[in-house]
Amino acid sequence: MYIVFLGPPGAGKGTYSNLTSKWLGIPVISTGDILRNAIENGTPLGKRVEIYVDSGELVPDEVIEKLVDETLDSEAANKGIIFDGFPRTVNQAEILHRLIENRGSKLDLVIELYADDEEIVQRLSSRRVCPECNAIYNLITGPPKNDSKCDICGTEIVQREDDKPETIQHRLNVYRKQTAPLLEFYHNKAGLKCIIVDTNGLPDVGRDALRKKLLENEVISE
Ligand code: AP5
Repeated sequence: MYIVFLGPPGAGKGTYSNLTSKWLGIPVISTGDILRNAIENGTPLGKRVEIYVDSGELVPDEVIEKLVDETLDSEAANKGIIFDGFPRTVNQAEILHRLIENRGSKLDLVIELYADDEEIVQRLSSRRVCPECNAIYNLITGPPKNDSKCDICGTEIVQREDDKPETIQHRLNVYRKQTAPLLEFYHNKAGLKCIIVDTNGLPDVGRDALRKKLLENEVISE
């Protein structure tokens, strides 16, 4: 099964794709996490994409295509993949379509998340992440149990470079200009299931709303 999570920065793609992964037993691929890990490790990929990621610009499509193509060939992907942060342009959606079709499969589901700008800015300003295992925390709605250490691996949690106020606003603009057209593209795609979830409010509310819609659409069972 192939699932795409779409939505503006801070809508909860990372949070809810990880939950859906647990419910379905399918791995999540976050292009953002892969790129940030490459930057952290100083790899050639990291050096190439750092300027884009830190400033909130989109990384060129050909870089993302290579990365996704390799991921689809990995053993972990044999039951399918949940994509967090890909595709992000209509061109990337067409690339995804081609890559999956080449493997004799198709995209099964698009999950579109949305939240108000004001809430997004507050969430991203208070988000902290684990640079080691990529776990997501929030100082207001979901802090780690042990001060500033990751609950899972004990690493010191950090603020993402692109979660500074001026970059958050720029990312929202980039989303509206380059990614929002994808919503209409997917809504008009015949035979494709699209689920829309309002994630305003606390994470538990969005989690319950998402779970209900996945049950109604028979994507998961009780
Ligand atoms: P990426 O890592 O994908 O970032 P993003 O799309 O900006 O999304 P975020 O990770 O900021 O937010 P999210 O929706 O996952 O929210 P989260 O669950 O963390 O991309 C980063 C960069 O990489 C891009 O700018 C670009 O440069 C590059 N890139 C990546 N993919 C690319 C691609 N395909 N093409 C080109 N470039 C690409 O939640 C946010 C916070 O809110 C958390 O702290 C969470 O705990 C908290 N929270 C509070 N309340 C809730 C609630 N109700 N629901 C969910 N979370 C809540």
